[in-house]
Amino acid sequence: MKKRGLLALAAAVVAASAGSPAFAEGDPARGEKVFRKCKACHTVAQGAKHKVGPNLYGVIGRRAGAAEGYRRYSKGLKTAGFAWDAELLDRYLTSPRKMIEGGRMVFPGLKKARDRADVIAYLMRAAK
Ligand code: HEC
Repeated sequence: MKKRGLLALAAAVVAASAGSPAFAEGDPARGEKVFRKCKACHTVAQGAKHKVGPNLYGVIGRRAGAAEGYRRYSKGLKTAGFAWDAELLDRYLTSPRKMIEGGRMVFPGLKKARDRADVIAYLMRAAK
């Protein structure tokens, strides 16, 4: 993605989180525990291998369906045409296959808003 786009995205994330305290209050330490549910299929470290799902290192701000070297994306995710921000992740993690038609993430979703906010905070911290 171009730098300008990233900046606009960052601004949008800030704007979105200002109106929605759930994101701002995400607790990355608790999110690491929530992430245990994701670990069977995802790594989240620079250069780590892809598992059933793509390595989530740096996923926030990255175009959906674009982790380098991961070849099992569904068409739905590959052609989603957006870059992940906290708000989109919140929607996705609520019910992945409702958001992405034909999506391959076989995970029912995190029903609790707090779990989603915390795991998103963890993903943000993990990429620093
Ligand atoms: C059973 C395996 C599995 C579990 C459990 C799982 N995922 Fe996934 N995830 C996948 C697969 C497979 C994809 C690719 C989906 C597609 O292409 O439609 C994916 C895609 C994603 C993406 C989009 C990545 C990108 O590059 O666009 C995110 C973000 C994500 N998962 C987060 C999570 C989080 C957070 C959890 C835990 C709360 C989780 N996943 C649990 C298998 C899983």
